[in-house]
Amino acid sequence: KEGIYNEKFRPQIHFSPPSKWMNDPNGLVYLDGEYHLFYQYNPNGNTWGPMHWGHAISKDLVYWQHLPIALYPDEHGMIFSGSAVYDENNTSGLGTAENPPLVAIFTYHDSEAKKSGEEDVQSQGIAFSTRGRSWTKFSQNPVLSNSGRPDFRDPKVIWVNNKWVMSIAVKDKIQFFSSPNLINWTFESDFNPEWANYEGVWKCPDLFPLTLPSGEEKWILLVSVISGGPQKGSATQYFIGDFDGKTFTTDLSQIRWLDYGADNYAGVTWSNIPDADGRRIFIGWMSNWYYAQKTPTSPWRSAMTLPRELKLIGTDKKFALKSSPIDELNKLRKTSQYKYGSVISLEEPLVELELVPELNDFSISFSNIKGEIVTLNKSGDDLSFDRSNSGKVDFQNGFGAVHHVALEGLDIYQVQIFLDNSSQEIFINGGQVTLTNLLFPNESYDKVTLQGFKDKFTLHYLSSIW
Ligand code: FRU
Repeated sequence: KEGIYNEKFRPQIHFSPPSKWMNDPNGLVYLDGEYHLFYQYNPNGNTWGPMHWGHAISKDLVYWQHLPIALYPDEHGMIFSGSAVYDENNTSGLGTAENPPLVAIFTYHDSEAKKSGEEDVQSQGIAFSTRGRSWTKFSQNPVLSNSGRPDFRDPKVIWVNNKWVMSIAVKDKIQFFSSPNLINWTFESDFNPEWANYEGVWKCPDLFPLTLPSGEEKWILLVSVISGGPQKGSATQYFIGDFDGKTFTTDLSQIRWLDYGADNYAGVTWSNIPDADGRRIFIGWMSNWYYAQKTPTSPWRSAMTLPRELKLIGTDKKFALKSSPIDELNKLRKTSQYKYGSVISLEEPLVELELVPELNDFSISFSNIKGEIVTLNKSGDDLSFDRSNSGKVDFQNGFGAVHHVALEGLDIYQVQIFLDNSSQEIFINGGQVTLTNLLFPNESYDKVTLQGFKDKFTLHYLSSIW
């Protein structure tokens, strides 16, 4: 491990590719003790390029093993984002009853085709595998062709009411399709409520049920937007509603964001998690198309967020969907100590802090010997995150803009922060509000300054996953 993954800014508790460019998580599926993580990958460069599916597996969503590239571009185009399912009943016929297949459903992006003159052509293809180690593309791809749609991408497939249902992004709406076998698809409905955020093209949908504490089941639809997020640039909005197998409806009329930081985008959830576990586990791409290709890292670019469990705690409140760090992350705690006082020094920039506010207004800053500083501040109903002088910020105009969240009366009783070299993930009230942000300090942050918190708090030093 000497020298490997020790580069400046390299995340130590987040998944990142060994080298080159990564964007969205793809094909998240669990099978036989293994969580698969595929990802948008350009093996030829440090910026976006011909897309492949990179691949890694984990037994616990904490420690990852890199595997060879799973899907390469072919005559139908590059391999854009998509999902994977375990076809347990071999509905596709692409495996056998004894050895049912994993099936990946992805977008082909053909930049040569330009059928309608203006737009690149996107269609959906599938590939299959028994254990996810090597993949065979279906011989009759594509299984769902474009039919003049301007954008037609990022299929996310689930099994509902004895059929497969695909959510897919079509520029400024989500379309639902259904299929008995993952091969023949029938259009079901559109979803595009008037009041939603349409500033950027819609992408990377994910549809799944969650149960409220009352026992009532609701359906959640995640939709990423390339721009127009709460801090400008890319972000993920979510809808709460009902799904009858064909149509998604919602009673909401207010935009809700999964994360209020700048760097959590294109996230989706794992399929085929065993019922005995029952969690809905999410991972996002920890970047933003606004500046993703310019971040000062090498020889790799981008990391995923920490995996999070999604829970629904209400429907009528703005902060209804909670995303909490998964419990497995606790195993990274190397040492845990109580700290007292308002200024403490950090031995390493790889920590988790748990704090309880004492006053209505509070602030916490991380700083270094160069005077670079990043601050989370609550003042009345305004929660802000200031990375304007956090280190390298001028690779993109606006990277240093101060973020604001209107709390709408939300009472904050807990703040949990993960600092991993070049990122901070802040979970308020166990994930009711989250802020995920990249940071590029020229020297590691080695000082924490607190105001308005209870005098005693917990500091965990974390161990690297590499
Ligand atoms: C989102 C996205 C997807 C597309 C992929 C291409 O970040 O633009 O819509 O499938 O990235 O890499």
